[in-house]
Amino acid sequence: MDNLIEINPKGADPYNILIRDSWNDLGVAMASVFKPECRICVISDINVSKLYGDELVSVLSKIFKQVDLIELKLGEINKSLETVSECYSRLIALKYGRNDVIVALGGGICGDIAGFVASSYMRGIGFVQVPTTLLSMVDSSSGGKTGVNFEDFKNMIGAFKMPRLVYINTSVLKTLPEKEYSSGMAEVLKAGLIKDGSFYEWLINSFQQINEHEDEFVSEMIARSIAVKKFYVEKDPYEKNERAILNFGHTVGHALEKYTDFKYSHGECVALGSVAAAYISWKKDYLTMEEFYEIRDMFVPFGLPISLPDINIDRIIEYMRSDKKNTSDGFKFILLKKIGKGMISTDVTEQEIREAIDQINYV
Ligand SMILES: NC(=O)c1ccc[n+]([C@@H]2O[C@H](COP(=O)([O-])OP(=O)(O)OC[C@H]3O[C@@H](n4cnc5c(N)ncnc54)[C@H](O)[C@@H]3O)[C@@H](O)[C@H]2O)c1
Ligand SMILES: [Zn+2]
Repeated sequence: MDNLIEINPKGADPYNILIRDSWNDLGVAMASVFKPECRICVISDINVSKLYGDELVSVLSKIFKQVDLIELKLGEINKSLETVSECYSRLIALKYGRNDVIVALGGGICGDIAGFVASSYMRGIGFVQVPTTLLSMVDSSSGGKTGVNFEDFKNMIGAFKMPRLVYINTSVLKTLPEKEYSSGMAEVLKAGLIKDGSFYEWLINSFQQINEHEDEFVSEMIARSIAVKKFYVEKDPYEKNERAILNFGHTVGHALEKYTDFKYSHGECVALGSVAAAYISWKKDYLTMEEFYEIRDMFVPFGLPISLPDINIDRIIEYMRSDKKNTSDGFKFILLKKIGKGMISTDVTEQEIREAIDQINYV
C-alpha cells in the first residue's frame, strides 16, 4: 500500500500524508515545508503529551530554533472556546508570529482545537497534524475541518484549515486503549460503506487481523480509509455538496453524543447512527434486508454498539434539529444507495427517522 498520499484540494494548497511506523521521517518532512527559523508549538492533550510529547519535541528541536509544548485538558467538554483562548494567550506570551507553526499531537479533539487555533491566530499560521488515535489517523486529521463545541452545540464554531503536512506514526496505536481503537473503526467501516464496497468486504474478511492489530493490515486499512476521504476532500473541500456524504451515520450520531452526555465516544455514536441510516436505506429499498442486517451486525466484531437502552426518541429528534447541518427545510440525511455508494437525501421524513432510532433502541 502507498504510504505517501498527496491531497490536492480544489482551490487550496496540496499537502502530503505520510504513513510511517516511527518518528524517523518526521524531521525531514517538517524541514521540507517549514524553515528552521520557525517556532514550532506542539499542542497535545495531557495523556498523549506524557507518552510522546518529549520525543516529538526532541525530534523537532534538532531542526527548529524554538519548540514549545502546550498541554490540553482531556475530553469533549474542553473542546471549547475557553481552551482556544488559553492557547492564544500562551502563543502571545511565547511571542509566536505569522510565520510560526502549530503541530497537533493527539486525537480528534486535540486536532480540532489546535487546528482552529492555527486557523485564527494572527489570521492563520502554519499547521501540521500528527494524529495519534485511529479515528484521527483515518478521518479527522485530513480534510481541514477544525472547530470547537459551543454551548450545547457540537462543532458549532470552526473553520477550514488545511494542514501543510499530516504525519501518521502507526506505532503509537500500541498505547491506544482498545475502546478508542474501536471508535476509529466506525469511521473506517463508514469509509467502505459510502465509497468502496471491496474495501468493506476486505474489512469483514480481515476482522481478525485488524482486531489483532497486525501491522500490515492496519497500515493498509488506514491508507484505504484515507483514499476515500481524499476523494471527497479533493472534489469538494469546503463541503458545498458531495463531501457531506462523509457524514454518513453522523446526523443521528451527533445527536447521540449529546444525548449520552459524551459518555459514548464519537465512533460509538457514529456506529449507532450508521445502523439507523442503513435501516432507512433498507426501508427506501436501496438495500436488501440481508444487507441491512449484515451492515448492522458487522459493527459488533469491531467492538462497536448497535443498540442503546431506553432511548428517548423525542430528545434525539430535538437534538437533531439543533444540528447545524440540518436546514430549516428538513433533515439532510446520508443514505446508502448500495454497499459502497453513499447518497445525500433530503426526503427522509421524521417518521422514518423515528422508526430507525427505534431499531437501535432496546428496552
Ligand atoms: N475534524 C474532523 O474532520 C473530524 C472528523 C471526525 C471526528 N472529529 C472529532 O474528533 C473527536 C474525537 O476524536 P478521537 O476519537 O480521536 O478522541 P480524543 O481526541 O479524545 O482521543 C481519545 C482518547 O485517547 C487518548 N489517546 C490519543 N492517542 C493516544 C495514544 N496513541 N495512546 C494512548 N492514548 C491516546 C486521548 O488522550 C483521549 O483520552 C470528536 O470531537 C469529533 O467531533 C473531527
Ligand atoms: Zn466522525
